[in-house]
Parts: sequence; structure tokens; C-alpha cells
Amino acid sequence: MTAPRDVFTAATLGPISLRNRIIKAATFEAATPEALVTDDLITYHRLPAAGGVGMTTVAYLAVSPGGRTEGKQIYWRTEAMPGLRRLTDAIHAEGAAISAQIGHAGPVANARTNRATALAPVRFFNPMSMRFAKHATRDDIDDIVAAHADAARMAIDAGFDAVEVHLGHNYFASSFLSPLINRRTDEFGGSLANRAKVARATVLAVRRAVEKAGTPIAVTAKLNMADGVRGGISTEESLQTAKWLEEDGGLDAIELTAGSSLVNPMYLFRGDAPVKEFAGAFTPPLRWGIRMTGKKFLREYPYHEAYLLRDARLFRAELSMPLILLGGITNRETMDLAMAEGFDFVAMGRALLAEPDLINRIHADGAQRSVRSVCTHCNQCMATIYSHTHCVVTGSPDRQVSSGV
Ligand SMILES: Cc1cc2nc3c(=O)[nH]c(=O)nc-3n(C[C@H](O)[C@H](O)[C@H](O)COP(=O)(O)O)c2cc1C
Repeated sequence: MTAPRDVFTAATLGPISLRNRIIKAATFEAATPEALVTDDLITYHRLPAAGGVGMTTVAYLAVSPGGRTEGKQIYWRTEAMPGLRRLTDAIHAEGAAISAQIGHAGPVANARTNRATALAPVRFFNPMSMRFAKHATRDDIDDIVAAHADAARMAIDAGFDAVEVHLGHNYFASSFLSPLINRRTDEFGGSLANRAKVARATVLAVRRAVEKAGTPIAVTAKLNMADGVRGGISTEESLQTAKWLEEDGGLDAIELTAGSSLVNPMYLFRGDAPVKEFAGAFTPPLRWGIRMTGKKFLREYPYHEAYLLRDARLFRAELSMPLILLGGITNRETMDLAMAEGFDFVAMGRALLAEPDLINRIHADGAQRSVRSVCTHCNQCMATIYSHTHCVVTGSPDRQVSSGV
């Protein structure tokens, strides 16, 4: 029997090499008021990079203006390139790699703040934007797939080491996978094979763009194992989708996620449901609506370490490609468990938002394994994505820290 991997050894992810097997998961930064890179955004990623992660992930760089979950998010365009280059240079200077999460929010897109039409498998009402997403035509789908390829090309030009294609959380590709949302009767609806077409075409378009560009960057995807909603994406269907993605050969790894930003966000996070704080992030009448329906929308699930492991094991057993375990990873024991279970990387969100230097401290702690995260999974950070994303327990990332770049 071979010994389990050490999470702190260098590892390859497709064509790139990471100094360890720990990835900072995308946590939307809310640090781009002009939809352009700021020193704040650079600091947000420089801290975990200096803190020891192998790779940090820039959350949600939309492939088009209409694909944003809100209008201040960066979307790929020439004007954003100098800032993105400054960002990748700063992370490389800390010895870490940097990935760009690329995606289209589909029914989760905010048509009001984006000032652009939202697109979904079917006409769909988004209560956050109080707007309808439009039924995506064949041409719309082709445009969005092509926009992912363009985004990958731009990510290479900006110096990113990887792109993470967003196939989760009921965003565009994920909403097509969902039998609950995707009620189409054409070639993109009905059977799983049809519903998976958008996800597979998107990944292959990105892979082809990367191959054509000739610069070796990694291509990963963040895929829902389950939506946690009756009638939504099930583990069985998601596993089949993952097998097709593996067969297609477009990905260097899959990061396994769950939940729906549309109908069941807490399935993604587990722990406390911050209804009051979440409602407080909005103005009336939306605030009142969230207060009244909040307990239903933000349905609570108990938190425990590695809470997605049970489902992720099913994927590990049936797939041979590299997999990234996500969800409730905060200490060395859980990282070791992930390695022992055959996962190739771990991804961490909240624990690194709370303490960007956690990885260095866990590493320095060595065999003692005594370092514990201060993250209480109160999830109040979720409500801060509408202003400046931060941990309410530690105040991190410290906005006063000068990025110096
Ligand atoms: C404040 C915050 C913002 C997030 N933003 C994103 C995002 O933009 N894209 C995404 O795929 N996931 C996002 N997530 C989800 C995380 O990537 C991750 O899946 C989740 O937090 C579970 O991992 P954890 O237990 O390590 O925190 C966000 C999470 C938090 C807490």
C-alpha cells in the first residue's frame, strides 16, 4: 500500500506545479467598486499567498457583463487587463500560483445592477434583482460558451496559472444541469445528456482555447455534487456528469461543491444562518422580504469538519482524475484525512478568510497538530459580500494593510 500524500509537498496540477496541495477557494471579495482590480483586491489575495497556500482563486471573474451576480464585479475586458496583471505579479512574488474563477451567473445574475439582460435555461424571476432572466436561445448559449474561451485566453495574457470554470451553485451551466430549473424541451433540456451539454461544451471550449494559446495553464471546474433541493441536481446525475467531463479530457481537476445560490445557499456552507445580517445588507422592501422568508431561504444545516466528504467519496471511488475536496476544511487532521481518502488537493474558504496566515502556522506546528481555526462558521462573512468581504470575528483581511504594489 502506498503512503498517503503529504498535503505540504509540491504537486502538479495539469501542466503547473504548486508548492503544496492547499488552494484558497473563491470567496467573492467585493473589492472592485469600478469592476477593476484595486489594491484592496490585491491585498485580499496577497495575504493568503504570503500565508502559505499553494494557489489562491480570484472569485468570480465574469465572462460577460450580464453574467455578473452584481454590477461591480469584474468582467473580462481589455480595460481590466493591466490590473489583473498587477494582481498575478503580486501573488507570484509571494511564491503562490493564482487561479481565475470564470463563469456566467445565469439565473443568479443581477440584471438590475448589471444593466444587462440575465439569461437562464427558461424565463426565470430573480427576487434579488426583481427582474426576469430571459430564456437563453441557441445563439445566447453559443455566445456564453465562446465568452468562456475568450476569458481563458485573457486569463493567460494576464498571467494566471489556472482557470476554474464555474459549473456549480445553479449559475448558468449548473442551471442547465438542474432538472428543477431547466424545463426546456429542446436539445438542451430533458435527458441528463442534453442538460449536460452546456457544461461539457464550455469546458471543451476553454480547453481548446488554452491549447491553442500554447501557454500551459491548468483548467479546473467547480461542480455541484448535489443542489440540496428536491428536484435539483442529484449526486447520481452529477456523478455521471463528472464521468463525462473526465472522458472529455478537458479538465485537470474537479473541485467538488454543493448547494444553490438561488434556492438553498446554506447547503454550501453549513453552520449558522445569518438571516438578520443578510437582510441588513439590503434596503427595504427586499430587507423586509428577506427577514420574513429568511429562515426558509437560509435553511440551516449542522456544520462539521469535511462536511462534503461523504458525497465526495462517491466521486473519488468512481473517477480517476484529480479531485479537490472542499467544505469545512480548517485543520491539519482534516487535510490529512482528505489526502488519506485519495483527494489530490484541499480547498479552503472561510478558514483562510478569517486567518490568511493559517497555512504557515499549521505547517510550522508540524507533528503537534495543535493549530485550530478561529472560524466559528457563523457565516456572517456571507452578508459582507455586499459591502467589503471580511471575517466579522477577526476583521481579516485587514483593509489597512498596504498592498505596496
Ligand atoms: C464570503 C464568501 C464568498 C464566497 N464567494 C464564492 C464565489 O464567488 N464563488 C464560489 O464558487 N464560491 C464562493 N464561496 C463558496 C466557497 O468557495 C466555498 O465553497 C465555501 O465557503 C465552503 O468552503 P469552506 O468550508 O472552506 O468555507 C464563497 C464563500 C464565502 C464564505
